Amino acid sequence: MSKVVVTGGAGFIGSHLVDRLLAEGHDVTVFDVGMHRNLDGAKSRRGFHFVQGDVRDARQVADAIPPGTKVVFHLSAIVGIKHYVQDPLRVLDVNVLGTRNVLDAAHKAGAKILFTSTSEVYGKNPKIPWAEEDDRVLGPTTTERWSYSTSKAVGEHLVLAMHKGKGLDASIVRFFNIYGPRQTPDLVVSQSVRKALRGERPLLYDGGHATRCFTFVEDAVEGTMRVAFDATTNGQVFNIGRDKESTVRELLTIILREAQASQGWEEVDTQAKFGKGFEDIQRRVPDVNKARRVLGWEAKTTLEEGVRRTVQWARENKWYLE
Ligand SMILES: NC(=O)c1ccc[n+]([C@@H]2O[C@H](COP(=O)([O-])OP(=O)(O)OC[C@H]3O[C@@H](n4cnc5c(N)ncnc54)[C@H](O)[C@@H]3O)[C@@H](O)[C@H]2O)c1
Repeated sequence: MSKVVVTGGAGFIGSHLVDRLLAEGHDVTVFDVGMHRNLDGAKSRRGFHFVQGDVRDARQVADAIPPGTKVVFHLSAIVGIKHYVQDPLRVLDVNVLGTRNVLDAAHKAGAKILFTSTSEVYGKNPKIPWAEEDDRVLGPTTTERWSYSTSKAVGEHLVLAMHKGKGLDASIVRFFNIYGPRQTPDLVVSQSVRKALRGERPLLYDGGHATRCFTFVEDAVEGTMRVAFDATTNGQVFNIGRDKESTVRELLTIILREAQASQGWEEVDTQAKFGKGFEDIQRRVPDVNKARRVLGWEAKTTLEEGVRRTVQWARENKWYLE
């Protein structure tokens, strides 16, 4: 049993991680901008603590990470394409300044840091699948969508620099399209599930030919736990994703079927909807050999099974559909 801090613990992946940490008997402090229904189950459990704060405020962050903390799971971030296009400054401030503050506080407290990064750091590298040492291939800074990829990559550089320069215990996971219960309903799986269950038509972008490796949140949490509590992962980066590709068209077909929805989908032209700040990545596939070899981890949940569980959860939690 250890004392751990989860920044962004009220969010989608964070709240599942918090549930898992509490179930394993850890003493868990969530640091987030506010309480959320995602923590309804966790908040009455023994060992749960909540600190309201902003990662951009160094003092608040330092106060939430006292000496004796074993691991800081850093998940606080601005996530979601609409934010990258509408408010890239906030994305950069929270994801870069916030990460620097969390790293400094973890270092002072003598804690290990587990930084949650993203497949977006690989950008649009055409060499598929992407292994951890592969190149980052990005578009111009005048295209706002790259602000998120860049902010997370700067976060990774900060983590690795603090590890090398100051001896901070640190590991990085790069998530690939995580989905499941509680996800903010503006990402492709969560938005489509919500629309399908509300009798609306999910959106099919540019014909739905782009592929993703959709990874169920429970699998992502398992991979994250293995990286966090295994000393051999120190200073290393791991892809955490399912290596099975599905087109968005296949995804929507499964969602409509599982939701027993007959309304079909609505076709969307992304350039017309988002303008020039948008540029989609056609394929994102992880090479997960390192996670298999070092952690004995791989994603187990099929897309059908994960969508079924997400739809079932959304049906049972009416607030999510309001
Ligand atoms: N969901 C995915 O598919 C995915 C993929 C790749 C990487 N990630 C990474 O995983 C982490 C969690 O993502 P998620 O999908 O759970 O997102 P989420 O938006 O549900 O959770 C992010 C949390 O960070 C909090 N936060 C935002 N700004 C903050 C601030 N200034 N101070 C403190 N907290 C703040 C939010 O309130 C929220 O609870 C993020 O770091 C994200 O970059 C997620």
